[in-house]
Amino acid sequence: MEKNDLGGSRQYWEETSKEYQSITRISINDFHYGPLLPGDSEVKALPKNLSGLKCLELGAGAGQNSLYLASQGADCLVTDISQEQLNHGEAIAKENQLELEFKQLDLDGIDPNELGKWDFIHSTWALPFAKDQKQVIEKCAEMLSAGGRLHITTGHPIFAGEWIQLDDFEEGMFVSNYFEPPREVRFTEDEENFIRTRQFPISTYINWIIESGLRLERVLELRPIQLEGHSEEELLKLMPYDSGVWRDMYSQIQKVPFVVTYIATKS
Ligand SMILES: C[S@@+](CC[C@H](N)C(=O)[O-])C[C@H]1O[C@@H](n2cnc3c(N)ncnc32)[C@H](O)[C@@H]1O
Repeated sequence: MEKNDLGGSRQYWEETSKEYQSITRISINDFHYGPLLPGDSEVKALPKNLSGLKCLELGAGAGQNSLYLASQGADCLVTDISQEQLNHGEAIAKENQLELEFKQLDLDGIDPNELGKWDFIHSTWALPFAKDQKQVIEKCAEMLSAGGRLHITTGHPIFAGEWIQLDDFEEGMFVSNYFEPPREVRFTEDEENFIRTRQFPISTYINWIIESGLRLERVLELRPIQLEGHSEEELLKLMPYDSGVWRDMYSQIQKVPFVVTYIATKS
């Protein structure tokens, strides 16, 4: 069989889910934007009143962000291509007596007629896996109710470069071509299929959002939480998304943002 990335996404994430969820500590007590970054209790970019808000999460993994929103009274649908990821989320929901809906959904297979209208659509580091990212944004715009809000957190195009050490004192990100950032390729265990991420320049996402009819409100390039001076117990509260792998990359994400968040509204 020829290697391909069609259908590879689901296979890859079914295989990866257990490891992803076990090595990453993702809190349900705050809304996260990315590794080692402050949560929304600090950033304060979420809609003000969450109670009764109809929320849709795309590429949610186990949906820890939706679990947080549900704990604040929001009405949440959690979607992801991987059933393993969703099963993990369902178990957390049960453990915490939270009511949410879970549905397997491919970012490239969104049907706005089937999914209906939403007050808040959010997605954290899943868009780069979609084959047609512009279309995902257009469909989000279509599915938002008047006054609705979109939060898309995606990979930062600069961080797609390569971290290099020039000498004992100088290190930094080497970006050979900002307009065509390198694509990360990950293979499934049988090496028959693969997935490829794709980042675009920041202006490309901004223009897709504007062209979809939404109004861009904010762009976030958050700095990580200062590790020094905080106890581990404090860090658990300050950083809702954390892992040993990310801690090892702290010096990098302190200088170059790993993610960028686009916040837009529909009038
Ligand atoms: C890096 S994880 C992020 C998960 C979650 N948003 C979080 O912050 O923990 C990327 C997620 O995107 C999902 N994903 C990858 N390709 C997808 C696709 N084509 N459609 C829907 N979800 C997809 C994966 O299953 C995985 O759960």
